[in-house]
Amino acid sequence: MNISIFGLGYVGSVGLGCLAKNGHRVIGVDLSEAKVNAINNGESPIVEKDIDKIIAEQHKTGNIEATQDSRYAVLNTDVSFICVGTPSTPNGHLNLSAIFKVAGEIGKSIKEKNRFHTVVIRSTVLPGTNETVTKIIEEVSGKESDKDFAIVSNPEFLREGTAVHDYFNPPYTLIGSSSTKAVEIMKEIYSGLESPVIVTEIKIAELMKYVNNSFHAVKIIFANEIGNICKKLGIDSHKLMEIFCLDTKLNISPYYFKPGFAYGGSCLPKDLKALCTVAHDNYLDSPLLDSIDKSNEGQKKIVHDQILAFKKDKIGFLGLSFKAGTDDLRNSPILDIIERLLGKGFNLKIYDRNVRFSQLMGANREYILKKIPYISKFLIDDPDDLIRSSEVIVVVNNSSEFKDILNQAPASTIIYDLVNLDFKKKSEAENYIGVAW
Ligand SMILES: NC(=O)c1ccc[n+]([C@@H]2O[C@H](COP(=O)([O-])OP(=O)(O)OC[C@H]3O[C@@H](n4cnc5c(N)ncnc54)[C@H](O)[C@@H]3O)[C@@H](O)[C@H]2O)c1
Repeated sequence: MNISIFGLGYVGSVGLGCLAKNGHRVIGVDLSEAKVNAINNGESPIVEKDIDKIIAEQHKTGNIEATQDSRYAVLNTDVSFICVGTPSTPNGHLNLSAIFKVAGEIGKSIKEKNRFHTVVIRSTVLPGTNETVTKIIEEVSGKESDKDFAIVSNPEFLREGTAVHDYFNPPYTLIGSSSTKAVEIMKEIYSGLESPVIVTEIKIAELMKYVNNSFHAVKIIFANEIGNICKKLGIDSHKLMEIFCLDTKLNISPYYFKPGFAYGGSCLPKDLKALCTVAHDNYLDSPLLDSIDKSNEGQKKIVHDQILAFKKDKIGFLGLSFKAGTDDLRNSPILDIIERLLGKGFNLKIYDRNVRFSQLMGANREYILKKIPYISKFLIDDPDDLIRSSEVIVVVNNSSEFKDILNQAPASTIIYDLVNLDFKKKSEAENYIGVAW
């Protein structure tokens, strides 16, 4: 395929060489004369393992060239990758001016074309950019999106230092586009790679890179804070983290990665607090660990404020314990919300078959009696009563029994879901609201 690449920095230069190595003919475009000359002399404009050899080899075979002339590049190719920089502004916003400038240039040349042209946003951009680039190109070219041209969001996941290896071995290739024709073109372009191609919504494709990189930053800081604590305690942090990573059930796994309600229970809050206190006692700053509880409280506030915003009086709770299949009420996060709602005079009903007040024992009973001594008055045994009388039903844990119960709810009842429960009539519910979806 004939491909043009706008921006010959790390992403563009690696893309140019690797796409050519996979059999495509590639024209690089950059404002920098020095970078254009480098490519045309068979040299890499960047220092990166293996890319110099690939560019030299592909230059020799005539598969690559570079130019400062964007019109020449667009008119002689069918696909244009946008790989220009997207730096931060001084106040932290994303500066997309280079993206929009290139979009305008590509649009001008598309005006002259009578063949379908695919424009691929490879740079890291926030959701909404695909839409703006589409508008710019439609306006400048006078052509119709998804008919005469199409925009594809296709974020790059490479890391500097291992960029060539990462290009050929990405975790997956992510594609978001409203054009099925463009999706097929993209699949053909990447047919030389073994990793899976995932076609998704445009905004997911746009946000994914930010989510990935933010998580990577969290991993680094988490490991550093744990390392600092280990050092103070005379523990080998590398040995510890190696063992930590061996747990692929709960630690390095999809487990706990579901947006939803606050955590609770008898272990997470207590153990996190203990670790933070060890850090403080050793005069260590652990801002990431310290911030976790604050964020958890913030999630409770979101739920509380949303329930108030419904402006309904009769609220039913499906679930009281912090997770399905247990009667443990210790630090169940919904208790804080129930306590506040009761204080405001709401009319509450709570159903949780695992929580029979008369049968609660030991520390569990002591905890609830201290927290909300009169809670037994609001616990009911009949879920039908809750379904019939509640204006809002809050789904607190994912007990499978709740699926059948919710299928009985009138379509107009507000269902506020904290756990993304999969019940049959979910799509028919007129007032279904997820806490974080
Ligand atoms: N560097 C990385 O490791 C990496 C990895 C993945 C994604 N990204 C993202 O990819 C994008 C590019 O990153 P980079 O590190 O390659 O940037 P870079 O700054 O190294 O290169 C950008 C290039 O774009 C050129 N350019 C700017 N305006 C232009 C225009 N109007 N026409 C043609 N060329 C133009 C610049 O001259 C420069 O050579 C960014 O959004 C970045 O966040 C970077």
